[in-house]
Amino acid sequence: MSEGLPVSVLITGIGELTTNDEELGTLPDAALVLDGDRVVWVGPAPAAPDADERVDVEGRAVLPGWVDSHTHLLFAGDRTEEFGARMAGKPYAAGGIAVTMAATRAATDDELAGNLRRHVAEAVRQGTTYLETKTGYGLTVADELRAAKIAAGHADEVTFLGAHLVPPDTDAASYLDLVCGEMLDAVAPHVRWADVFCETGAFDADASRAVLLAAQRKGLGLRVHGNQLGEGPGVALAVELGAASVDHCTYLAPSDVDALAGSDTVATLLPACDLSTRQPLPDARALLDAGATVALASNCNPGSSYTSSMAYCVTTAVLQMRMSVTEAVRAATWGGARALRRETGDGAVGVLRPGARADVHVLDAPSVTHLAYRPGVALTHAVWRAGRRVR
Ligand code: NIG
Repeated sequence: MSEGLPVSVLITGIGELTTNDEELGTLPDAALVLDGDRVVWVGPAPAAPDADERVDVEGRAVLPGWVDSHTHLLFAGDRTEEFGARMAGKPYAAGGIAVTMAATRAATDDELAGNLRRHVAEAVRQGTTYLETKTGYGLTVADELRAAKIAAGHADEVTFLGAHLVPPDTDAASYLDLVCGEMLDAVAPHVRWADVFCETGAFDADASRAVLLAAQRKGLGLRVHGNQLGEGPGVALAVELGAASVDHCTYLAPSDVDALAGSDTVATLLPACDLSTRQPLPDARALLDAGATVALASNCNPGSSYTSSMAYCVTTAVLQMRMSVTEAVRAATWGGARALRRETGDGAVGVLRPGARADVHVLDAPSVTHLAYRPGVALTHAVWRAGRRVR
């Protein structure tokens, strides 16, 4: 079927419908109705109302579109060589960001927008229907501002990450002042979130706190890159300041797990990044068993994780991180929505219930279990994004 204007659509013949709604749960022999950009009805197929269009998915599994809550898609250039060196044994380090920074600064606005559009389209073809992206490869006031403006035109959510790296040959204290002052003032009107790379080689705890507090004073929501390359202060800081999520969580002390479990901060795990940087995979079991909220995201970026495949993250989480299929699918849909504080209310994402955004992913499989049972197989059959059929 081709792309078209949203009309009411009855999707029926659903063999297994994952709704992520507490009352609706997972339904066999189900149907749902989309009207415009909203879901308006969910229930058993025999009871479904009529609609302008009818699509029979012939027993396939249907779930909410993936919510990718962590990407870095405002970039130019390529880091294939760095990847090759890593596969030959060289460790990943924060400094690689400067290579992408140079290519991004040299690119035109059209090149950056084109790259972003292509990567978003690639993600959508694979079932991603809601996507966050970040600035962070410009690292001057003008380059961060243009990144934020371009991102706002193509991504669902935009995060300011001026505190990604202190640019080479720049005084760290003056750069911190710039990020917390002029750069934040310029970018804030175009973004919803601010983030900081709280890690050895990037920003220490005091600098990270300064960035986050300045962003909070501006009214931005907070996110943190934390505990990616070793145990560190990122998780504790995120929890202390009430960040919506702390992302990576690859190296967690028991106190970090406890802090996350007792907080509203989502632990966003990025397994594709850990594999691509030859780090251990995060201890998802410890987080889930302690009661923390877990999200899975792609971390698509040219350095540490060049994949837009949320299915790959789900497969890895199940096969290698001891998450159940149900936990992994929920983390890649509802969990991402929670990390972006978009899981409730009118137009909620990551759920399929009346009033939610009409973001629907049909698998070419009878159940979501096939995402792990058939690793590496492209299982996306059809996608509706905000009511519009995009695949
Ligand atoms: O989330 N860790 C910091 N930022 C990105 C990597 C960026 C890069 O290496 O270009 C990440 O992994």
